[in-house]
Amino acid sequence: MGKTLKLFDSLDSTQSVAHKLAEQGVGEGTLVLAEQQTAGRGRMGRSWHSPKGKGVWMSLVLRPQIPVHFTPQLTLLVAVALCRTIRKIEPLPVAIKWPNDLLIEGKKISGILLESSAEDERLKYVIAGVGISVNLREEDYPDELREIGTSLRIASGKEWSRTELIQSFLEQFETLYELYHAEGFEPIRVAWEALAVSLGKPIRARTPKGNVEGVAESIDEMGALLVRLSDGNVTKLYSAEI
Ligand code: BTN
Repeated sequence: MGKTLKLFDSLDSTQSVAHKLAEQGVGEGTLVLAEQQTAGRGRMGRSWHSPKGKGVWMSLVLRPQIPVHFTPQLTLLVAVALCRTIRKIEPLPVAIKWPNDLLIEGKKISGILLESSAEDERLKYVIAGVGISVNLREEDYPDELREIGTSLRIASGKEWSRTELIQSFLEQFETLYELYHAEGFEPIRVAWEALAVSLGKPIRARTPKGNVEGVAESIDEMGALLVRLSDGNVTKLYSAEI
């Protein structure tokens, strides 16, 4: 992973460039990195604040041999790899909020955006986009993000090496990706549950089909969140804002 590196000073989004390269046939593990993104993308059509030199803004091209409908599993795999990466460097209380946010004391430190391309139900490639707010200071955040976002620097009080983070992430990711291909999703699911914040807690979720309230119990083999409702029934969430 990361043996082919495409490094840019400024891009609209590393996702867009990674898609173009993937369409041109670059190999699995090609990594697109930018010092700055001018139109960084988040989930659900949101933008991603990506100031120059302050974070890790990267997209990894993957060509997994899996059915298209398994791709959400990879989001959880990336989240586990990221969480392990940060905890290995510094024992911060970083945890995963389903499906793909990394939080420190309730504030977001990192986000994952998985996009795939398929033809006739056959998966062509997946772009795993990762944003880590590394060395941002309070003043680097616009007002609307200051309350909900944090950085590794703010949480730990020290500057972080972005190179070390990227290298360590690629190692953690590769180990989990090999495990996934060898043993399937179950070991990833177990590792994810051990790092999750919302399990066993009451949650309120905004879904495309309306709001859901209940207790988050576990995730299933597809990465969906299982929520126990007050009437005792269990509902599965595939896409929601918790
Ligand atoms: C989210 O939490 O909503 C996902 C955020 C993903 C941001 C990363 S930064 C690198 C890559 N390029 C993008 O435009 N987005 C992802």
